[in-house]
Amino acid sequence: MNFIGIDLGTSAVKLLLMSESGEILKIVSREYPIFFPKAGWSEQRPEDWYEQSMAGLEELLQGQDRSQVAGISFGGQMHGLVILDECDRVIRPAILWNDGRTGAECEYLNQVIGKETLSKYTANIAFAGFTAPKLLWLKKNEPENFQRIKKIMLPKDYLAYRLTGVHSTDYSDASGMLLLDVKHKKWSKEMCEICGISEDMLPRLFESYEAIGCVKPEIADRLKIGRDVVVAAGAGDNAAAAVGTGTVGDSQCNLSLGTSGTLFISSENFLVDSHNALHAFAHADGHFHLMGCMLSAASCNKWWMEDILSTQDFGGEQAGIGKLGENKVFFLPYLMGERSPHNDPSARGAFIGMSMDTTRADMTQAVLEGVAFALRDSFEVAESQGIGIASTKICGGGAKSPLWKKIIANVFNIPVQVPAVEEGPSMGGAMLAAVARGVYESVEDAAAKIVKVVDEVQPEPALAAAYEEKYRQFAKLYPALKKSYSEIYGA
Ligand code: XUL
Repeated sequence: MNFIGIDLGTSAVKLLLMSESGEILKIVSREYPIFFPKAGWSEQRPEDWYEQSMAGLEELLQGQDRSQVAGISFGGQMHGLVILDECDRVIRPAILWNDGRTGAECEYLNQVIGKETLSKYTANIAFAGFTAPKLLWLKKNEPENFQRIKKIMLPKDYLAYRLTGVHSTDYSDASGMLLLDVKHKKWSKEMCEICGISEDMLPRLFESYEAIGCVKPEIADRLKIGRDVVVAAGAGDNAAAAVGTGTVGDSQCNLSLGTSGTLFISSENFLVDSHNALHAFAHADGHFHLMGCMLSAASCNKWWMEDILSTQDFGGEQAGIGKLGENKVFFLPYLMGERSPHNDPSARGAFIGMSMDTTRADMTQAVLEGVAFALRDSFEVAESQGIGIASTKICGGGAKSPLWKKIIANVFNIPVQVPAVEEGPSMGGAMLAAVARGVYESVEDAAAKIVKVVDEVQPEPALAAAYEEKYRQFAKLYPALKKSYSEIYGA
C-alpha cells in the first residue's frame, strides 16, 4: 500500500507519495498566489488550493502504480477562515493565519470577554490570525457575507471536503480556531455564542488519524485510483510536521522554519502556559502540545533575498557570511506583525545597528539570526513554565541551510537533530493516512518505525556563549520599539 500526504502550505501545496514502510516515492509541489489587499492583510482563494492540489495529485501519480494508493491525508496551514454558503460555495477569499486585521476584535476578546474567561473556554487567548476574531471582524465589516455563512472550515478541511463531500476537521487544527474547548475536545458553546454562530456551522471533529470517508467516485475516476481510497482527517501543519519528524508522545521538540516559524513541544497530558503566550493545542497523536508561532521565519530570508537583494542564490549569499556571534547588526523579523510571544499585529521588521562598515553579508546574517532569536523568545517562555528542552528536531524550507541550523543550535544551545525527510507536514500527512488504514497501531508506532535522524548539529560552547549575549541584547529591542510600533502602525 502507498499513502499520499498533502501539505497545504501558504506559498504552495506540497504532495508526497510514501510506501507503507515510510520510503518516499515521489514529491511534487504547485504554487498559488497570496493576496495582500491591505498592509497586514493576507488572503487566498480556496478554489486555487483545490485546483493546484488536483493538478499536483495528477502529477504525483504519473508513472506510479495507482492501484497501490490506499489513503490520503493532510497537514494544512492553520487558522484560515473558509466560509461556505448553503450550496457549499465559497463566500469570500480565505483570511489566512498571518492576517493582522483583527486587532480590535482581539482587544475586545482579550480585554472585554477577558483572557481568563477565554482560557477557561478554550485553553487559549485571542491572537490576530486565529479564526474566532475573524468571524467577529466579518460580522462587523461584511455583514452580508456573515449572514450567508452555513459552514465554517479550515484550509485543509476545505480540500478534504472537495475530495470526500464530508465537512470535517481534526482536533489539532480546530484548536487554533479559538472555538474548541481543547481540554475536553469539544466545540465551546460559549465561544459560538460570543461569535454569533451556531454549532452546526462547524465541521464534525475527528482525531487526525481517523478516516473521515473515502474519495468521491468522480475524484477516484479522475485520478484513476480506487473508490475505496480512505481520506484521514489530517492535522494542522505544525502537528503534522511534528508527526513527520517523530515529535510525538511526551516532551519532544520540533522547530519548523517555514513561512512561519514554530517551536512545538509535545505532551502526553493537557498543558496550558500560565501566561497564554504559547498556544495550548491538541496534537495529531491524540495527545496535546504547546506551541510558539512567529509569523515570518523563512519568509524573512526569502523576502530579503528575492525582493530586496533580487537573487535566488541563497547559498551563495550565505557563503559570504564571516564569523558568527560577532554581528553588530540586528534584525527584528516582524514583517507581518508578530504572534508569539508579543501578540502584536502592529510590530514591523527592522534592521538596527548599521554603520558605514556594515556589509550585505552582515545584513543577511542578521536576518538568519533575528529569526533564531525570535524563536528563542518562545523557548524562553517554555523554560519559564518549567519545561526543559534537551534537543530539538528541525524541518521546513529554512532547515535546508547548514548555516541556519548551526546558528539555531548555538542560539538555543541545544543539539539540533535533522530527520531524513525535511518535508514534515506532507510526511506527517502520509503517516496519518497509514495509521487510518491500520498499517500502524498508532501515530507513535508509525513515528518510531518510520522517522530516522540523519544528522545532529551540536552547539559549540564559545559560540553559544557569544549568542547568549547577543540574544539578551536582541530581547531588549522589541520592548524599546513597542510604543512606536503602536503609534505608527497601530489600527
Ligand atoms: C500556527 C500558524 C502557522 C501556520 C502556517 O499557529 O499560524 O504555523 O499554520 O502554515
